[in-house]
Amino acid sequence: MVQFSENTLLSADTAKRRPLPFVKWAGGKGSLLSHILRHVPDRFSSYYEPFLGGGAVFLAIYAVGRRFNAVLSDVNAELINAYEIIKEAPEDLIRVLSKLEDEYSHSKSKSSYFYEMRRAQSTDPIRSAARLLFLNKTCYNGLYRVNSRGEFNVPFGRYKNPRIVDAENIRTVNKALQETKAQLRRSDYKTILSCCHRGDFVYLDPPYQPKSNTSSFTDYTPGGFSENDQEELAKQFKRLVERGCNVLLSNSETPLTARLYAEYETKTVTVNRPINSVGSGRTGYKELIVVGALD
Ligand SMILES: C[S@@+](CC[C@H](N)C(=O)[O-])C[C@H]1O[C@@H](n2cnc3c(N)ncnc32)[C@H](O)[C@@H]1O
Repeated sequence: MVQFSENTLLSADTAKRRPLPFVKWAGGKGSLLSHILRHVPDRFSSYYEPFLGGGAVFLAIYAVGRRFNAVLSDVNAELINAYEIIKEAPEDLIRVLSKLEDEYSHSKSKSSYFYEMRRAQSTDPIRSAARLLFLNKTCYNGLYRVNSRGEFNVPFGRYKNPRIVDAENIRTVNKALQETKAQLRRSDYKTILSCCHRGDFVYLDPPYQPKSNTSSFTDYTPGGFSENDQEELAKQFKRLVERGCNVLLSNSETPLTARLYAEYETKTVTVNRPINSVGSGRTGYKELIVVGALD
């Protein structure tokens, strides 16, 4: 079972640039990767990641040389649209994004340009993907957060020279999506889990159970993810294990999550987690990794 380490990932880095998340995403798994990779099963049928976000784990498993078919999904329609465009039309995206970068760098007021883009939702899929990447690179802290109407509401980030187009990375992510024949779905996770079969590998990275009422960052979607949702997810986790899937879950370590997954093999990892702008929220955060598999 223990096959991959940070070294494997680093050598993938040095051999050639490995695909990295094309958006910064709250809860991104960069710092947990080496721990998660250790629990990738030797063999599995399809890979499912139904809380996809920036897709750090999917990309890392691909980067260490595993070849598999993937079903990737998230409830966020704009995000899934961006994956679809990177899979099907990466050069069009690079072209539109390069134009935005050029306009932005020559604009008299960068913040006005940003707020204009923030207002200008587009129905064109390529333009919409370019807008998501542009806002992600130029907004405060590179977050994605929406208000109750589902509108992106993160303020301007004031970066001096944000890297808006990373064409090489878009192309390597395109390759990962193509080679894994990624099926991309905009969907609630429960609908997707109903398609998982014995032998599949499922990685679950839900919105985190907040450590306290004030440390919450659950606004990826207008509805958020409540304690009831965490309870329901634990039931879904159990069903997957009973069906014969290999399941891995990460969450914050809280009394609730510790209780929900008490019957499984768990590991606590302390990481720096830049989830919010408060400095103290960035260090020494305890994450729970839960491994679910039939013996
Ligand atoms: C913690 S983030 C995942 C981060 C990801 N692992 C990464 O490396 O960036 C949780 C994701 O779950 C999505 N999400 C929230 N509620 C959901 C639901 N009910 N079904 C599917 N996805 C959901 C959010 O849009 C968000 O992208």
